[in-house]
Amino acid sequence: MVKKSIVLVLVLSMLVMLFAGCSDKPAEGGDPTMTDKPTQTEDPGQTEDPGEETAKLVGVTMPTKSLQRWNEDGANVKAALEKKGYKVDLQYADNKQDVQNSQIENQITMGCDVLVIASIDGGALGGVLKQAQDANIPVIAYDRLLTNTDKCDYYATFDNYGVGKMQGEFIESVLGLDQGAEGPFSLECFGGDPGDHNALLFNQGAMDVLQPYIDSGVLQVKSGQTKFPDQIAITNWESSGAQDRMDNLLTAYYGDSNIDVVLSPNDSLAQGIVSSLKSAGYGSDAKPFPILTGQDCDKINVGQIIRGEQSMSIFKDTRILADQVIAMTDAILAGEPVPTNASYNNGVIDVPSYNCEIKFADKNNWKELLIDSGYYSLSDIPDAQ
Ligand code: BGC
Repeated sequence: MVKKSIVLVLVLSMLVMLFAGCSDKPAEGGDPTMTDKPTQTEDPGQTEDPGEETAKLVGVTMPTKSLQRWNEDGANVKAALEKKGYKVDLQYADNKQDVQNSQIENQITMGCDVLVIASIDGGALGGVLKQAQDANIPVIAYDRLLTNTDKCDYYATFDNYGVGKMQGEFIESVLGLDQGAEGPFSLECFGGDPGDHNALLFNQGAMDVLQPYIDSGVLQVKSGQTKFPDQIAITNWESSGAQDRMDNLLTAYYGDSNIDVVLSPNDSLAQGIVSSLKSAGYGSDAKPFPILTGQDCDKINVGQIIRGEQSMSIFKDTRILADQVIAMTDAILAGEPVPTNASYNNGVIDVPSYNCEIKFADKNNWKELLIDSGYYSLSDIPDAQ
């Protein structure tokens, strides 16, 4: 009898141990081969069960870790894909296209089922995209279009022309240009990296609004430099490049008058522009900060908005973009219609695309847009209370 009970207890405790072992989730930072593998989890909200099928592998390449937005994009996409049960290889390329090309080559060799690419120079991936084509791997361009290739299956992005247009309209409205204000107001224009197709669209969108006012003399560009990319592009979107150009402009053209408006396509440039303006003494009653645009709502720039150094920044909710990429990946792999609402010509083909919605943050709405929505917490933002 005693013997029987001991055997029973032993069998029971073995069973308990077995089940406990099965349901144990790999600890964070534990064995990556474990965490990468979608398991039967107790919490279906955490990771979807891929069923009997082996988890598909998605290769994600991001341009650089040096700008806040790409770190967030990479993390969001990875987390959202993993939540759906995919395995993910995420790489950053230090803003070097040849580095990114080798990373993609590796991902092709690894047998990735889908490639998600946020390029550096969208027209310089030719060879590696040909390899993806030969291996029959679908390619989704992420945020930045892949140009001059017939191997770009889908494109998930924000309304890039709309970004520039919104920046131009912001300037138009703050100055009251659409209400007949005659100025003249001084303006200088900056552009993004010439290899990034978005930079062209941002510029087109903004200049379509501002050019008529430049032509009529209400806006005056003292440097005369408005041509993108030749005169105003900033290589690699570097803050230091924008700071140097702003220094030169202020010295050469604004020795005896203040600048009223600076069109900056994004926040990394706006950071350099603000540094330059500060060193030139802007930020006082006699020298107020000019109207300055931006894009991405980087934390540093939200701080600049709060302190009155920058006027606005376009908010691109990267969580929505990540969700869109996941919806595209799901549909592609299931052989179902892929959700699209736009089309971009990349010089060779019309790429079926999805434009996510944009908004802008300024001193009036940043809290509602960025904090109340859960995008940032208040403690993320310098000088926020
Ligand atoms: C993105 C912007 C970003 C810029 C610099 C562009 O392609 O659309 O959001 O500010 O790259 O990283």
